[in-house]
Amino acid sequence: EIIHLEDYQPTDFVLERVDLTFELDPLETKVEARLIFHRREGVAADRPLVLDGDELKMTGLLLDQEPIAAEDYTETGETLTIRGLPDSAPFEITVTTELSPQTNTKLMGLYRTNDVYCTQCEAEGFRRITFFPDRPDVLAVYTVNIIADKATVPLLLSNGNFLGGAGMGDGRHFAAWFDPHPKPSYLFALVAGDLGVVEDSFTTLSGREVVLKIYVEHGKEPRAAYAMDALKRSMRWDEEVFGREYDLDIFMIVAVSDFNMGAMENKGLNVFNDKYVLADPETATDQDYANIEAIIAHEYFHNWTGNRITCRDWFQLCLKEGLTVYRDHQFSADQRSRAVKRIAEVRHLKAEQFPEDGGPLAHPVRPTRYREINNFYTTTVYEKGSEVTGMIATLLGPDLFKAGMDLYFDRHDGQAVTIEDFIRCFEEASGRDLTQFSLWYHQAGTPLVSASGTYDASRQTFTLQLEQTVPPTPGQSTKQPVHIPLRFALISEDGTITEASSVSGAEVTGDVLHLVERSQSVTFEGIASRPVVSLNRGFSAPINLHFEKSSADRAQIARFETDLFARWQALNDMALDALVAATASVRAGTPVVCDQALIDALMATVSDDALEPAFRAQALALPSESDIAREIGRDNDPDAIFAARREIMTAIATAGRETFAGLFETMRSTEAFSPDAASAGRRALRNSALAYLVLAENAPTRAVEAFSAADNMTDLSQALTILVHRFPDTPEATAALESFQTRFADNALVLDKWFTVQATIPGAATLERVETLMAHPLFNGLNPNRVRALVGTFAFSNPTGFNRADGKGYRFLARQILDIDPRNPQLAARILTSMRSWRSLESGRAEHARAALSEIAAGAKLSPDVSDIVERTLKG
Ligand code: ARG
Ligand code: ZN
Repeated sequence: EIIHLEDYQPTDFVLERVDLTFELDPLETKVEARLIFHRREGVAADRPLVLDGDELKMTGLLLDQEPIAAEDYTETGETLTIRGLPDSAPFEITVTTELSPQTNTKLMGLYRTNDVYCTQCEAEGFRRITFFPDRPDVLAVYTVNIIADKATVPLLLSNGNFLGGAGMGDGRHFAAWFDPHPKPSYLFALVAGDLGVVEDSFTTLSGREVVLKIYVEHGKEPRAAYAMDALKRSMRWDEEVFGREYDLDIFMIVAVSDFNMGAMENKGLNVFNDKYVLADPETATDQDYANIEAIIAHEYFHNWTGNRITCRDWFQLCLKEGLTVYRDHQFSADQRSRAVKRIAEVRHLKAEQFPEDGGPLAHPVRPTRYREINNFYTTTVYEKGSEVTGMIATLLGPDLFKAGMDLYFDRHDGQAVTIEDFIRCFEEASGRDLTQFSLWYHQAGTPLVSASGTYDASRQTFTLQLEQTVPPTPGQSTKQPVHIPLRFALISEDGTITEASSVSGAEVTGDVLHLVERSQSVTFEGIASRPVVSLNRGFSAPINLHFEKSSADRAQIARFETDLFARWQALNDMALDALVAATASVRAGTPVVCDQALIDALMATVSDDALEPAFRAQALALPSESDIAREIGRDNDPDAIFAARREIMTAIATAGRETFAGLFETMRSTEAFSPDAASAGRRALRNSALAYLVLAENAPTRAVEAFSAADNMTDLSQALTILVHRFPDTPEATAALESFQTRFADNALVLDKWFTVQATIPGAATLERVETLMAHPLFNGLNPNRVRALVGTFAFSNPTGFNRADGKGYRFLARQILDIDPRNPQLAARILTSMRSWRSLESGRAEHARAALSEIAAGAKLSPDVSDIVERTLKG
C-alpha cells in the first residue's frame, strides 16, 4: 500500500488527553490506554473512529467505561474501527492490550534490551503498544503510570516531569509521570529496569534549574562523563545561538545496547544507542567522541526542532531532521575546527547521499509517496535536508536567516507543520521569493553544474560560462533549473583574491554567485590577469561540479585559497583525477604514473606547520574506492580501482617517506590523553603518516610497534587496521587481533570494532573470513550494532570483498537479508541499501547483483521494509 502526500486529511476526531498504565512483565505486559476524544467540528456523525495497531492483542475495549457491543467495532490486525460515537460531546475510549516485550525483536514499540524495558516509537511504533491515532499531527498531553516488580525493575521512567511513586505492598511499585507539552505519539517513551546513573544540573538563561541524568548499565557510569559534558555544551549553545531554552524540570538520556538507529529524541527522555553515549580513552576513538558530541546535540536540539514544533505528516520528516542536522553541524563547527568539520561533512555527504541521489533509491528531500516510512530515514532527508537549510542561510545571510528562524519558533510553537510553513517564515522575514529555491525540496537528484572560463586580456574581462542540469530520477524524468548559491573566489597569478569592478549576467551578493538559469554567462570586469576560479567554496551547494582545470590551476587554489575547505577540495580533485587515470591504466594494463603536481601539492600541504594537523590529515586521506567508482560512473571494476589506489598511495608514500617518518615522530603526544579536536587532529595526522610509512616500508614492523605502544583506542585501532588490512594472515596480524579480542572481551562496543576491522580487509578472501566470524561465539545476530559491524561494514565498506567477481558476496548478502528480515525488518532493509549502486558495476558483477536481488525479491513473507527496498533497487 502506497501513501501519498496529496491524500493528507486531518483526523476526524481530536485527541485531548492520554492516560497510560503499564504493568510490566517480560512476556505479559498489560497496557491500559484511556483516550479522551471529541469529534472534530464539521465531521459527519456517522464517521467512525479509526485507530492504528500493529501485531496487538486486545484484551478489553470500553466507551465511557462501558463495554462496546461487538457490532460497534471491528478489529483487524492493523486497525480498530469504532462506530456509533457521540456527535459532539467528548468521550473516553479505554483499550487494554497485552504485549510481550521480551520477544519483540523488531525493536519497535516496547521491547527489552539487557533486561531493561525500553520503547522506540518513531515513526510508527506506538501502534505496537496500543490502538491509537498514530500520526504526528495528533498532539496530546500524556500521563503515564508504570507498575513493575520493585526488586528487578527499580527504575521507572517516562516523559515529562515526575509526579510521584510508591511501593504497592505486593513487591511491586509504581511511578507516575506527566508531560505538560502536547506531543505526538512518536515522542512517547518508557524505560524501566535496573540502571546506573550520572547526575548533573543545568541552569537555563532565564534561571530554570534542570536536573540532568544519564542512565547506563551499572559500572559504566564513568564512561558517560563526556556525553554529559556534550549535553551541557549543547544546552548552552542552543540558548546562545538559536535563543532556545529547555522547558522541563528534568532531562534524561538512557543508553541501551540494542537499538536500530543512532538515538531518539523522546520528550525529556532521549533513548540512545550506547555507542553514542559511552566513551573513555581506552575504548573510544576520536571519531566516537565526535559522534557522541554530535548526536547528543542532535537529539537535544530536537526538543525545539521536532518536539515543540513537529511534522504534520511523515512526508515532512526533513522539517525536523534536515533542520536538526543543520543545527548539530553548526554546533560541532563551533566546538571544533569549522573547516575540518565541513570537510568531514562533505566527505560523508558525497559518500552516502550522492550515491543514493544518483541511484535507484533517489527521492526528494520532501518525498510525495512512500510504502514504508522507515525507509525514508535516509541521508537525503537528513544530510541533503541539512544542506538545503544551509543554502537558505547562505541566500539570506546570518541576520535574515536568524529572523526567519525566530519567526518559525514564534509562529509554529506547539504545532505540527509542513515544509511550506517553514519556507514561508524565511520569505516573510527576508522579503525574498523562495519559490524557485523550494525545488531543492521537491526534485530528487544531484544537480550537475558545468563551468568553463575565458579570460580576455585586452578587455580585462573574465567570463564564466555556467550550465546546470538536474538528472532524471525514479518517478521524475524532467527537472526545472534550481537556485544554486555558489560561493566563489577569483585567484590571480600572484595568489591574491581579485575583486571585479563590476559583474554582469548573474546576481552576486558578497562572494555568492546566484545561478538560477539553465545556462548563464557571467562576466567580471576589471580583471588584470587570468584568474583561477575557486567555485563552490565551502561546498555552498550540494552539487556535482564539472570544471576542467589543469593541475597547476588546482594547485594554485590549494596553495592560495583563503577558504580552507576549497583548498582541501582542490587537492581532493587533483587526487581524484589521478586516481581515475590510474584506474584506466590498470584496466588497460599500462603502467600507473602518479601526477607529480599532486605529490608536490600534497607534500607542501602536509609539511606546512601553519596548517592545523587535522586539516593536513584530511588532505592525505585520498578519495575512497567508492568515491572513485562514483566519479567513473559506469562499468566499474572494484579490483582495478583498488589496485590503482594502492599504486597512487604507494607513489605518494615513497616520495614522502621522510616527511611521513618526521610527522610520525613530531605528532606524537607527550601529554595525557584529551579528546579535544586539536589533540585528535594530531593523532589523525600521525596515523595517516603511519599508514603511508607502512606502505613505503612494505613491512608490518612499524604497525606492530604502534599497536604495542598505543595508549588510546584511536591509535590502537588505527594500528590494528593498518596491520591487518595491509598484511592479513601474517602471524603479526593474527597475534594483534587475538590480543585485541582478549583485552576487550567484555566490551561489546570495542568488539564491534574487532569485527569491523576484519570485515573490511580488502580482497575476495574476506568473504570466507566473514562467514567464519558469523559462527563466532561473539557474533550475535540479534544485536543491531554487531550485525552492522560485521555484515553491514562488509557490504558497505569493503568494495573488493563484497563485489567479488564471482558474485558470492552478493549471494551472501541475500542470505543474510532473508535471515535478518523476519526478526528485524528495519535492520535488514538498511543493510540492503548497500546494493544501491549495482548498476554502475561492470556487466559480470551487475548480473550477479541482479540475481542476488531477485533471490531476495522472491523470498517468502518479506517485510514491507525489505520488499520496498528490493523492488525499488531492481527497478530504478
Ligand atoms: N528521530 C531519530 C533521530 O534522527 C531517528 C529515529 C528513527 N527511527 C526509526 N525507526 N526510523 O534523531
Ligand atoms: Zn533526528
